Amino acid sequence: MPLSKQRALAKEMGLRDGKEKGPVIAVDGPAASGKGSIARALAKSLDLPHMDTGLLYRAVALNLWRWGGDPSSEFEALRACDGLGSVADDPELRSEAVSKIASMISAYPAVRSALLKRQQDFAAQDRGAVLDGRDIGTVIAPKADVKLFVTASPEVRARRRLSELGSRGMHAHYEDVLADIHARDARDSGRGVAPLRPAADALLLDTSELSLDQSIAEALRMVEEHLAHARQ
Ligand code: DC
Repeated sequence: MPLSKQRALAKEMGLRDGKEKGPVIAVDGPAASGKGSIARALAKSLDLPHMDTGLLYRAVALNLWRWGGDPSSEFEALRACDGLGSVADDPELRSEAVSKIASMISAYPAVRSALLKRQQDFAAQDRGAVLDGRDIGTVIAPKADVKLFVTASPEVRARRRLSELGSRGMHAHYEDVLADIHARDARDSGRGVAPLRPAADALLLDTSELSLDQSIAEALRMVEEHLAHARQ
């Protein structure tokens, strides 16, 4: 059978023939929407490599903090991008202090462009990839095969954040967590460069009324349906 026919058949059957690139799946959304867990689960089910791009911004923030740099200086934040290396899952990356600095430094165009190539190279792997963040479908991989935008109401996200903090032995007040979610949403959506917003062709998934398992099942159903449609 000629190669072109083999490829067409493999495509029809949804198989990767070793030459065809795997799918790129962009998962964007605000903090505590469930996008991180959904992206990890999609990557596992579809056997694709996964990148949590928020960790890159957190790693820059942690570098800056450890070195005593000033988060209100774009120049110093850019210096903190140097020698980032591999982003190990240091528990400090998830601390409130680092979250706050990450939210500030991610608004700097210089920091965003310093991290761009690493994310685009990851998305360009032949195997395909799942990336989650704020601007994957709009800036990093605007040609992604599937773009998922995961949301949930600020109140639901605040309750999730509260129970996540509780499970780590940290106590906080609901009103403070909610105010923080609102502030972070405003910073992420209001910045001039790569603001948080769904791509025009993104599939929207509101997880407000769904458990984590239901959210994952629904995301998988939406992605598989979209990929099957694109194959036809
Ligand atoms: O998803 P997260 O909370 O780990 O992200 C940390 C910060 O980095 C958050 O303030 C948003 C920012 N971020 C971003 O601006 N663009 C991305 N692609 C990922 C995260």
